[in-house]
Amino acid sequence: LNRIVINTGFQKSDILIGENWTNVKTLIPTSDVVIVTDNNVRKIYGDKFPCFAVISLSPGEESKRFEVIDDIAKKLLEYGIDRTGFILGIGGGVVCDITGFISSIYMRGIRFGYVSSSLLSQVDASIGGKNGINCGPVKNTLGTFRQPEFVICDPSMLKSLPDDEYLSGLAELIKNGIILDSDLVNEIEHNYNGILNRDINLLTRLITRSVEIKASVVREDEKEKGKRMLLNFGHTFGHAIEVQSGLKHGFAVASGMILAVDISYKEGILTKSERDRVRNLLHQFNLIREFKLSKNEFEELITKDKKKEGDKINFVLLETIGKATVKKIQVKKLIDYFKSVD
Ligand SMILES: NC(=O)c1ccc[n+]([C@@H]2O[C@H](COP(=O)([O-])OP(=O)(O)OC[C@H]3O[C@@H](n4cnc5c(N)ncnc54)[C@H](O)[C@@H]3O)[C@@H](O)[C@H]2O)c1
Repeated sequence: LNRIVINTGFQKSDILIGENWTNVKTLIPTSDVVIVTDNNVRKIYGDKFPCFAVISLSPGEESKRFEVIDDIAKKLLEYGIDRTGFILGIGGGVVCDITGFISSIYMRGIRFGYVSSSLLSQVDASIGGKNGINCGPVKNTLGTFRQPEFVICDPSMLKSLPDDEYLSGLAELIKNGIILDSDLVNEIEHNYNGILNRDINLLTRLITRSVEIKASVVREDEKEKGKRMLLNFGHTFGHAIEVQSGLKHGFAVASGMILAVDISYKEGILTKSERDRVRNLLHQFNLIREFKLSKNEFEELITKDKKKEGDKINFVLLETIGKATVKKIQVKKLIDYFKSVD
């Protein structure tokens, strides 16, 4: 069991990697707990859930809507949950985002924690205190920063993940290595079979390292004023691809990373061989999927991007594997780059 703590001064979050998820019962109160999950996760793991009321959502991005939040709030009222209550999210990134969001606004904020059940959520979505739901064409338009009391990342839960969900999470794990830790990238490159076989010890090590990377960034810059922006590597294009094409988050980000390393190379800050090493790694794990996104659609989406400031956008470039940097780039220039690769 590996324990990583994120203490932002106001809130403390305990991240337990390699912990058996059923031990969550020792971390929650003995009453006034409601579990939020989705139907898939409930079907596989529901019989071992702690004995509390369960709100089970339709799986997937479609649930990240305000109407769903409204429904959950009404159920919490029905169950008599007040400010002293606790919400336990058991699921992937969607469940964690929804649990974090409702917990931070219900009764102006109540206690919450996660059992994080997908690879994407173990290495990314459940870590760092961001939550959000969608509204209109831009993802995560409504959200808050609030740290869960704890996050359990039990890699044995990943055995039941569908292949594409697993690979989608792998893209974010690889991203964390590419931007800040070349050793993690080496380890991923040298453990192809172990990763595909979902070797629990290997995954515990890789997830721990990835969480350490994200935690160190969040400790320094919880509200994304500086260093945390590095975590958005591949996401400017990735979000546009995800929204328009419906590709899974990790696959969209993987294609976004390909574009980002290409731009880094064209801007003269990344060598061709490092660019190709990133490309090969993403292709090797079959993370690059076909998508349709026209130049006009991209142009429209990028002009609505949350990270845009005036006519520029904070774009994450790669200097070398393990070292990324943020640069303000003209939106027009990015659109031209997109056109040139299309
Ligand atoms: N808040 C953040 O910082 C942050 C960061 C990255 C991503 N996200 C969000 O995370 C979401 C994507 O997360 P995700 O990929 O986990 O999606 P998800 O929660 O939809 O889970 C993917 C699928 O896997 C299923 N599943 C989850 N755990 C399982 C298990 N152990 N066994 C079998 N099936 C399982 C789910 O039911 C779902 O069908 C997106 O909405 C994205 O915006 C948030």
